[in-house]
Amino acid sequence: MFKRLMGNRRNAVSGCNELSEQEMLQQLDPARMPQHVAIIMDGNGRWATQRGALRSLGHRAGVKALREVVKLGVEIKLKYLTVYAFSTENWKRPREEVNTLMDLLVEYIYKEIDELCANNVRIHPMGLLSELPARAQEAVALAIDRSKNNTGLVFNIALNYGGRAELLRAVHLIGRKIERGELEVEQITEQVIADHLFTAGQPDPDLLIRPSGDYRVSNFLLWQLAYTEFWLTNTMWPDFGRKNFLKALLDFQHRERRFGGLVHD
Ligand code: IPE
Ligand code: IPE
Ligand code: MG
Repeated sequence: MFKRLMGNRRNAVSGCNELSEQEMLQQLDPARMPQHVAIIMDGNGRWATQRGALRSLGHRAGVKALREVVKLGVEIKLKYLTVYAFSTENWKRPREEVNTLMDLLVEYIYKEIDELCANNVRIHPMGLLSELPARAQEAVALAIDRSKNNTGLVFNIALNYGGRAELLRAVHLIGRKIERGELEVEQITEQVIADHLFTAGQPDPDLLIRPSGDYRVSNFLLWQLAYTEFWLTNTMWPDFGRKNFLKALLDFQHRERRFGGLVHD
């Protein structure tokens, strides 16, 4: 069953695997572009281990892959890109690895902020940010502030993010409004819940990409993924590159989305 979801299967995009990057770009149909793409950037550690290198090298290579994907997102005028950079469960990793990940985040922001702003990208970190180390909080605050007036790609970086933690936070926020008399229980709708998530005001992801051959959501965007199309590949994140991003987009454009209804011609 999962084979059907694999991005590198022979799929509706005929001969997609043989197309050059340029050809794939040309095949993209502007009328069928996803508005919001979410990516679980997974496989850095295995990428490094397969090369006999330290996991930290894989994380560094993962940042390079992220740079390429953001650039392509800007080129194709994507509206929302959400990347899973650090989960609420990733604290379970050895302290050294957590430190490396935080260092890379800080380095990424300071190195990339000028170019991101030049490309009109608005950075929107989402997660329990106050639990991040001080240096990461400072970098994140700078990224938010420097990019807050940008009107192009909204770049959600999920940091210390968990879908369950996000929903729990929403319940607390809504509960407090009820306590203060600002909201009645009967007024809680799906829209009210969505409005209290980190993605408030944004469309749900149209496409979720997970590299690395694992078939799970790992606590990512549990509410928002209700009708998202999945695209999976065995390629590890550091090798993902522009080509796989384009393959995923082309494949998405041939999907039939029904949202529980029927398709009418
Ligand atoms: C993704 O790569 C990066 C983070 C989770 C922060 P991993 O570090 O999970 O790589 P694998 O899954 O062990 O290969
Ligand atoms: C998901 O990957 C989190 C990020 C990519 C940041 P994990 O490597 O943490 O997920 P599991 O443990 O394989 O489910
Ligand atoms: Mg992983």
